[in-house]
Amino acid sequence: MPKNNFQRFGHIRGITVTEANESQRQFWNDKPGANWVRFYRDLDIMHHSVLEKLLDCAAPEAGETVIDIGCGAGTSSFALAELVGSSGSVSGYDISEPLLTKAEERRAEKGVSNVSFHLADAQTAGFDGSADLIVSRFGVMFFDDPEAAFANLHSALRPGGRIVFITWAASEFNPWFSLARKIAVQHFGDLPDGDPDAPGPMSLRDIDRGVSFLKAGGFADPVGEAVDLTLDHPDGWPALRQLVPHIGPVGRFLRDCEVTQEQRAALFDDLDKAFSEFATDTGISVPARINVFSALA
Ligand SMILES: C[S@@+](CC[C@H](N)C(=O)[O-])C[C@H]1O[C@@H](n2cnc3c(N)ncnc32)[C@H](O)[C@@H]1O
Repeated sequence: MPKNNFQRFGHIRGITVTEANESQRQFWNDKPGANWVRFYRDLDIMHHSVLEKLLDCAAPEAGETVIDIGCGAGTSSFALAELVGSSGSVSGYDISEPLLTKAEERRAEKGVSNVSFHLADAQTAGFDGSADLIVSRFGVMFFDDPEAAFANLHSALRPGGRIVFITWAASEFNPWFSLARKIAVQHFGDLPDGDPDAPGPMSLRDIDRGVSFLKAGGFADPVGEAVDLTLDHPDGWPALRQLVPHIGPVGRFLRDCEVTQEQRAALFDDLDKAFSEFATDTGISVPARINVFSALA
């Protein structure tokens, strides 16, 4: 019996059939995955505007079969499930066991029967070619072979099916990343940047690059559009501040530099000042830019 209730792919009789995305699999099954579980409620509040945009653009209809790539703790899958109704279904795919365990726990609590979760790599999972729609909120930027991954996603759709997904635009348009990093650099000096196109949150910041992967994957009419919105939280900066050491660019500085309590306090003083710029009467509203991509199978 599997330990968890979700379905597992990528293994046949105990033999791993793919080594794709090994470092991302480790990443999302280690502390970062656990942190996304720990803070999923605040992340969902912060990324709510992104989900609204995704649902608006994807426009799922009653009865449709939907695949949610990198579904994490399942929030987008549950929202989609309501829209497709009991005659439709949603399959959430993710490589993170801790996040899928949370998603499945939430599914059972909610008593939702038209959602299933699958522990599988979207780049290599076997699909049956019958889905009407693929969506993703921030789940398709982590492929080590994006062309192969998008070709595999293409194979999941019925002819005429559609894909709609959202990625981050460049960090200069996203102070949640760039302002936090700038302040960390002021305190600790710069850390070497890796390959900006390597798997990671900003790997599909460039619209032409994303469109080229969709084309290479066999999709028709691929387009991408930058959209400005805000990341909001009614509990204000304190709610986002607690994420800073664990999620986003600052954690790396805290891990890699030998940071004393005093240095950490000084860093957070400056972060408090900088992000107070985004305080509103109803909490906090951080400007952000995302890319919305869509294409047809
Ligand atoms: C930034 S999180 C977004 C999670 C969720 N979509 C949300 O908006 O809360 C990225 C998610 O993609 C998943 N992921 C990364 N690479 C993947 C792959 N190759 N196949 C399936 N899921 C993947 C991660 O495990 C993680 O849950």
